[in-house]
Amino acid sequence: MRAHPAVNGRLTGMDGRDLVRSVRMIKTVGPAQGLRSVRAAWRARRADALALPRRGAERARVPGPATGAEPQPGGGVIHFARSSLRVRVAAGGAVFCGWDGAAPEPSYALAGPCPEVDARAVLEPDTEGGWRVVSERVLVVVSRHGAVEVRTPGGAVLRRELPPRWWEEADASGTDTAAGRSGGGGAARWVQRAEVAADARFFGLGGRAHGPRLRDGVYRLWNTDPGGAFAPGDDPLSLTMPVQLVVADAGTHLVFHDNSWDGRVTLREGVEGAGSGHDRPGACELRMDGGPLRYWVLVGTPARVLQGWTALTGAPALPPLWALGPQHARWGFAGQDEVREVAAGYAERGLPLSAVHLDIDHYDRHRVFTVDPERYPDLPGLARELRAQGVRLVSVVDPGVRAEPGDAVYEGGAAADAFVRDARGREVRGEVWPGESVYPDFTDARVRKWWGGLYAERLAQGFAGFWHDMNEPVSFAAFGERTLPRSARHALEGRGGDHREAHNVYGLAMARAGFDGLSELRPDERPFLFSRSGWAGLQRYGGSWSGAVATDWPGLRASLSLVLGLGLCGVPYSGPDIGGFSGQPSPELYLRWFQLGAFLPLFRTHSAWGAGRREPWEFGAEVLEHARTALCERARLLPYFGTLGQLARLTGAPYVRPLWWNAPRDRALRDCEDAFLLGDALLVAPALAAGVTRRPVRLPRGRWYDTATGRAYEGPGQVWVEAPLSRIPVLARAGAVVPVAGADGGTELEVWAPPTGRGGSGLVVPDAGDGWQRPDVERFVSRWEGDRVVVERRDGEAVGYPVRVRGLTGG
Ligand code: NOJ
Repeated sequence: MRAHPAVNGRLTGMDGRDLVRSVRMIKTVGPAQGLRSVRAAWRARRADALALPRRGAERARVPGPATGAEPQPGGGVIHFARSSLRVRVAAGGAVFCGWDGAAPEPSYALAGPCPEVDARAVLEPDTEGGWRVVSERVLVVVSRHGAVEVRTPGGAVLRRELPPRWWEEADASGTDTAAGRSGGGGAARWVQRAEVAADARFFGLGGRAHGPRLRDGVYRLWNTDPGGAFAPGDDPLSLTMPVQLVVADAGTHLVFHDNSWDGRVTLREGVEGAGSGHDRPGACELRMDGGPLRYWVLVGTPARVLQGWTALTGAPALPPLWALGPQHARWGFAGQDEVREVAAGYAERGLPLSAVHLDIDHYDRHRVFTVDPERYPDLPGLARELRAQGVRLVSVVDPGVRAEPGDAVYEGGAAADAFVRDARGREVRGEVWPGESVYPDFTDARVRKWWGGLYAERLAQGFAGFWHDMNEPVSFAAFGERTLPRSARHALEGRGGDHREAHNVYGLAMARAGFDGLSELRPDERPFLFSRSGWAGLQRYGGSWSGAVATDWPGLRASLSLVLGLGLCGVPYSGPDIGGFSGQPSPELYLRWFQLGAFLPLFRTHSAWGAGRREPWEFGAEVLEHARTALCERARLLPYFGTLGQLARLTGAPYVRPLWWNAPRDRALRDCEDAFLLGDALLVAPALAAGVTRRPVRLPRGRWYDTATGRAYEGPGQVWVEAPLSRIPVLARAGAVVPVAGADGGTELEVWAPPTGRGGSGLVVPDAGDGWQRPDVERFVSRWEGDRVVVERRDGEAVGYPVRVRGLTGG
């Protein structure tokens, strides 16, 4: 994306490109909305030019030589000639590093107060004038010029950061302004370069279409509406996060830069034996437009790192059990009769359906928290009728509020002074579905409370779940950025600031408003909420989804990449628009997407206004039969999905995990992006290209059974498995104990025979549905007893479930 002209303090008029884009916009969305989006773009540009500081002469600064250090509980502060670095180890092993006085708080990412320090971690002098902080799980070595090495307790270097560099405004007298020195960070730009092992692989950075392994390139940190359907090359998308998971032979670490400003991460994988036989390390450069230079590092196995990450940023919200069932959405239902017909279509064909999602077309003229009285004359009645058939309604919720006197939400918000204002104190107006709109300032606790109360109207309409959309936030703009002006003012929890800092946390704060409001309105039910945009910590309030993914085979791949990447950033619940958002998938593409979606947490078909339909019976009899198989398998696995959701909440481990999850040192697994583990027990290998009927599958160590044929394979290594159109390959780990739904609907244990003389295990976390009950974790082991496989509960209690052993004849 081009730099915003006003960012540099210049107010330029429309240039030729802007003109071309404006004309195109008017042609696409029609004259009225097109002209309004030209006006919105123009207004944003002018507001920024007037209010953002001009970028004048800048001075570069590096820390300079170390001058001394002060030990403190959990670490200490190292002073340099022109900066300082605080290193603090928290109980649990997460390490905080803050330059220039930056403290861990305030933070949108942290779940609660900053964790206690690990009082055993100590700061001590190192060789050559440097310092080190020694703790149980990680060793941090700081050189006398401010390079920082993160090492394992055994001394292996996981990450080497070069001294950072800041660019600060130099005032007329030539001295530095305070901006870059205030702990909260100001508009001083900075860069930090780091090296990692030559064999390291990068993952994370939120939802990226061309992952999950992040190859060499520049990744932007600025939540961005794709503005149509996106393809794997498009970056950034709606949910970026400055969270990198780095996996190398020497160990796994996660680094999180707690800074919500716009930035760019440049990654370059290393090369072993490059040049004259020496390794070229991997490199990672982070360039931020402002904000504090502070970060957390977590070191350990992938499971430990994710556990530490969710301990820091919050346990994932648990979706109600019904949200793990199949869901159907569509932008463009004609009205309540069509919704009824779609639900009946599932029922008549004996296909399970858990929820139907209503998009903006059910609103009255696209206005949030309203209902079109003509097309939905009795929404509560429809909700009751569907609910009696076991189908819930989910509502889209957009943040943009039609700015018009007489609109109840607008008037309520205006009376509560809830909307984002510009530097001159006027409401910032943007252009989105309902027309000229204003935007609640979710970074204000008062506004969150007001907004959270509005969900009462949705609950009264009979909605059971919520789908937050357009919350990057979007303002259609014929040119420039499709969001609010960077100069727009935000409360930022009372600190005050502008959109440069608030933009990336807007969707996160909206999710908080929705979650808290719903928890208050329906205290006995856990809210179901998922959001297109968000930031580190989103999982506390809900999940996410792929957004508008393009309808083609690369889009199918991107769907998997997004789900895997988000899981590694702590957001376990997500899924794609099955069939793709735009256009019309071929029957084969639709089916393969459906089959993949059946093994992802959010299992939802959806499509754009004017795009083809996504009901499973729309693609011919063969597709319908195979989709039925996928739906039945999903229903059978529901107790397993429920267990994985509970485990994600308890441990941070996502439902959908990369193949290297338990074997991060296995390089072949590290590079494998076309299959995944569903929990510990299953390996899913989707068909991701046209015409596939067999495919290679890279197996982790151990025996794996093809769950369809019972055939056993031995890992590690690559095997070829059948992938007929009727199903995608799913393999079960030998010894696994998997809770599944039996024919009578009760839970039973499916046990995959361990290799002779060996054992296995599995967990069951029963879920009563949608309340807040404390989960009981039941642990099971499987083992051979003579010529039988038996299952026992670890705590000695009776097993309590019927047991079915599989894989006994499997080679
Ligand atoms: C954009 C979302 O990505 C899409 O899912 C939705 O259908 C449209 N907005 C309309 O609300």
